Amino acid sequence: MAGIPHDHYEPKSGFEKWLNNRLPVVGLIYDTLFIPTPKNLNWWWIWGIVLAFCLVMQIATGIVLAMHYTPHVDMAFASIEHIMRNVNGGALLRYTHANGASLFFFAVYVHMFRGLFYGSYKSPREVTWIIGMLIYLAMMATGFLGYVLPWGQMSFWGATVITGLFGAIPFIGEPLQTWLLGGPAVGNPTLNRFFSLHYLLPFVIAGLVIVHIWAFHTTGNNNPTGVEVRRGSKAEAEKDTLPFWPYFVIKDLFALVVILVVFFAIVGFMPNFLGHPDNYIEANPLSTPAHIVPEWYYLPFYAILRAFTSDVWVVQIASFVTGGIIDAKFFGVLAMFGSIFVMVLVPWLDTSSVRSGRYRPMFRWWFYLLVIDFVVLMWCGAMPAEPPYSIISLIGAAYWFAYFLVILPILGVIEKPLPQPATIEEDFNDHYAHDAHPAE
Ligand code: HEM
Repeated sequence: MAGIPHDHYEPKSGFEKWLNNRLPVVGLIYDTLFIPTPKNLNWWWIWGIVLAFCLVMQIATGIVLAMHYTPHVDMAFASIEHIMRNVNGGALLRYTHANGASLFFFAVYVHMFRGLFYGSYKSPREVTWIIGMLIYLAMMATGFLGYVLPWGQMSFWGATVITGLFGAIPFIGEPLQTWLLGGPAVGNPTLNRFFSLHYLLPFVIAGLVIVHIWAFHTTGNNNPTGVEVRRGSKAEAEKDTLPFWPYFVIKDLFALVVILVVFFAIVGFMPNFLGHPDNYIEANPLSTPAHIVPEWYYLPFYAILRAFTSDVWVVQIASFVTGGIIDAKFFGVLAMFGSIFVMVLVPWLDTSSVRSGRYRPMFRWWFYLLVIDFVVLMWCGAMPAEPPYSIISLIGAAYWFAYFLVILPILGVIEKPLPQPATIEEDFNDHYAHDAHPAE
């Protein structure tokens, strides 16, 4: 697909020409800043900037926190208390970083569900989507590693449970788990390597974000209609688009400010609302907490992990067929990773020729149900693993897989889509033309 035709940077002064012949960096910045962007983008398109902001905020606060933190089992917990009490602005710094992770995940879920509704994952944006999924996996890993660092009870027991999942893999599980932990159980070598990797991964994410942006700048953004920008000529493309600067920069920054007002109200007035009180108790390998609960953003997948117990018939069949190699624990691990993997495959599972959910009358309801399913699973993940929660989790997990593996492929064939606008310009005029007053 040809890129959207637009003006390119022309070096003017002697210095600009000199630099451009050696490193066309100004041209790169120019093309990024003035990239033609569909003019009908709605508020669901602001979350990418929120995510970019979160990444920078987490790296900046994290680097300063690391200056005062000690990754040793005898000192980690005390060093966090030291940050909170003695370091200038330490409490604000720590609470911003801890709640910043929550904002980051909130934003990523909205961003992903936006993509799922508007079909942003569909051709030609599959690579943008897959890089996004890699970012999401790296975020999950980073959040988990970071949560271990304060060395509270939830840090320790969360790390024990999650690394235990790797132990459930047949044959290689136990040596793999020992290798990850740096010993037979969660201990000082674990804390040390988790700190090292927690520091490293955000920079890997930053690299992936650059590739993510590169990918959607190559294809152009999707938009609420799912109809592509016209590329026949520059004049035609300009009817469907506006330059990113200043139109979308100002819009995105406005949204970011509103979101940050809410965010800093939480950081200032209820900074522990999303945390678990047990993490203010120092890690104690001899005392297991009554309920080991991960952070809210892992809960839907935690519910899927726990849904598959040995009395579920699919688990029994899998165990029988494989001669016991796939037991309930390993099945749960497979289901959890599988529930993320089916999202990676969605560009090929969705068979509809229509991109946006706006023009898909049946799809829309199944999609809303998926969002509800996600919230219900999140709630189940926080509840004890017993009836009725285990049964609700099982139904929720079944719907999650059915949506991607059965409903999406079938819908594309049986659904009769609604008429779509011919161009983005047409959609824009339908929505906004009546607001525009001719110049007087
Ligand atoms: C650090 C994390 C991420 C950052 C900074 C980021 C940034 C962005 C930005 C700036 C855009 C442009 C439009 C918009 O703002 O929505 C975008 C688009 C997109 N993102 Fe992300 N993203 C991240 C993670 C993800 C994840 C986890 C996924 C899903 C798997 C994803 C999938 C997409 C898709 C499909 C588009 C194309 C939508 C369009 O064409 O406008 N992104 N991303």
